[in-house]
Amino acid sequence: MKNYRMHLMLCAGTGCVSNGSYRIKASLQKELEKHNLQNEIAIIMTGCNGFCAQGPVMVVQPDNIFYQLLSEKVIPHLVEEHFLKGRPVKKLMYIPSADKIPIPKMSEIGFFKKQRLIALRNRGLIDPEIIDEAIARGAYKACLKALNSMTPEEIRKEIKDSGLRGRGGAGFPTGLKWEITAKQASEKKYIVCNADEGDPGAFMDRSIIESDPHAVLEGMIIGAKAIGAEQGYLYIRYEYPLALERMENAINQAREYGLLGDDILGSGFNFDVYIHRGAGAFVCGEETSLIRSIEGYPPEPRIRPPFPSESGIWGKPTNINNVETWATVPVIIYRGSKWFSQIGTETSKGTKVFALVGKVKNTGLVEVPMGITLREIIYDIGGGIENDRAFKAVQTGGPSGGCIPSSLLDLPIDYEQLAEAGSIMGSGGMIVMDDSTCMVDVAKYFLEFLKSESCGKCTACREGIDVLYKMVVQICDGNGTLEDISVMQELCEAIKNGSMCALGSTAPNPVISTLQYFKHEYEAHIKDKKCPAGVCKALITFSIIPDNCKACMLCVKNCPQGAITGEKKQPQKIEQDKCIKCGVCYDLCKFKAVLIQ
Ligand SMILES: Cc1cc2nc3c(=O)[nH]c(=O)nc-3n(C[C@H](O)[C@H](O)[C@H](O)COP(=O)(O)O)c2cc1C
Ligand code: FES
Repeated sequence: MKNYRMHLMLCAGTGCVSNGSYRIKASLQKELEKHNLQNEIAIIMTGCNGFCAQGPVMVVQPDNIFYQLLSEKVIPHLVEEHFLKGRPVKKLMYIPSADKIPIPKMSEIGFFKKQRLIALRNRGLIDPEIIDEAIARGAYKACLKALNSMTPEEIRKEIKDSGLRGRGGAGFPTGLKWEITAKQASEKKYIVCNADEGDPGAFMDRSIIESDPHAVLEGMIIGAKAIGAEQGYLYIRYEYPLALERMENAINQAREYGLLGDDILGSGFNFDVYIHRGAGAFVCGEETSLIRSIEGYPPEPRIRPPFPSESGIWGKPTNINNVETWATVPVIIYRGSKWFSQIGTETSKGTKVFALVGKVKNTGLVEVPMGITLREIIYDIGGGIENDRAFKAVQTGGPSGGCIPSSLLDLPIDYEQLAEAGSIMGSGGMIVMDDSTCMVDVAKYFLEFLKSESCGKCTACREGIDVLYKMVVQICDGNGTLEDISVMQELCEAIKNGSMCALGSTAPNPVISTLQYFKHEYEAHIKDKKCPAGVCKALITFSIIPDNCKACMLCVKNCPQGAITGEKKQPQKIEQDKCIKCGVCYDLCKFKAVLIQ
């Protein structure tokens, strides 16, 4: 094995790949060879580093130097300056907007400082396509311990004592679920890893699989022994080709190493996993729909009980856990439940991975200890609101979550605190919104998603969400009445209580939480026929402030309707009958001359 003096950990997560990681790799190879450095410096393609907004990113080890927004153009200079002459290139480092001083080391960048990595422990540190790299970082040690020196009861006790709760949405205690499945009298049992991840904006599970597939496989092997299952399924979302490819590769390598199959590591325990590609709908992630999908039927949920732990795939006891839950298991087994349960809050132990997106400066994937406040995530890790606008709300929990207002920024987050605030932890979507967001429009967006994703099997969900959506559309169009608000509240209750699965029963949440904290915005749409955030097209007009207009003509040239006219060197005007309110003029104007009213 070669001894390199430097390792270039180049991100090959989906985000960075789409921004050209592999072209950058080719460029690096060419330049390293040009300077005869190829035997001294190795390029390692890793999974997602987390700081996707700055991609393509690369970390230079052992010095931990973080480079961002790389392009092929800058590579010759970077190789010559840093890798040949030993002078790190400042302009390619992360530069915080506050003091404009480049930060060389990854560990000193605010985005990474407050994170605590358990599920993402190997992110950016290994090539996910090479099992030896995962093993060098400790993969399968916990598996060895569980298979060779623990009984199924001991494994379950360790997971129960750790306080681990399911990371897929509901937060059900993992050890308890394992216990229920283990205790079923059945020759055949299954375990499933739920990697359907259909929430808009979420990419936690995709990222874990892409960056460390062996963490998930190891968790599943341990869980299989604890439950008494010899067969497992990985249900991977259809739209995740890279995750699928890496998991297939990881399974093949694990089989070659005797980590899957018969008599794993000489323990006498047999277990293997099979990949099932998702059927392309949000509801496929709901556990009973997922089971139907694996069985080859349309993914429609069914009434529970019986729960999958009692009757799942082909009527056999089936334990379903989320990707992040499985990836956390090996660390608990290896380091012990006591260690894990010291992290987090009274009721929610350990860490949680969030996809931090929206109007925040640093978007990406973050793993934080339970109990951290929303303010710490949004401001310390996220770097604050884009363009230094005002924070308005944060939406957590995916489409059926809720919007939390600025008055609750200091809320320490765990399952209970989020539920008390009218939202949920969900699987970890976190969408930050600024003052340019209309909260009625947000409710409309999520209802539209849920309406089209309802499988249609039960009336409350199929018809109820549709009616609720139409009422919100009416309000956005300026045609709502104050009475609509109380009708909507009643309808929310009916959908909640009458739906068969959690897609329907949680679907009213976006309306309930926006009404709880932003009722005044609904009232402004209804009573004043105004959209305070200037978003709802029926309630706004665009006009030009003559005193601010410098007649630069940028808006004139870019208006798709030719609706902006005027004399040369004179303030321009928007013809209201032609304007489609696309907002191009507003976005382009550098002189704040476009007014939205
Ligand atoms: C509409 C709907 C979609 C869901 N999608 C997912 C998903 O994509 N991934 C997931 O792990 N759980 C999803 N769930 C939750 C699962 O039904 C189930 O609770 C979870 O996989 C259990 O794993 P856990 O205990 O590790 O959280 C969804 C639930 C509903 C109602
Ligand atoms: S994909 Fe590269 S940092 Fe996320």
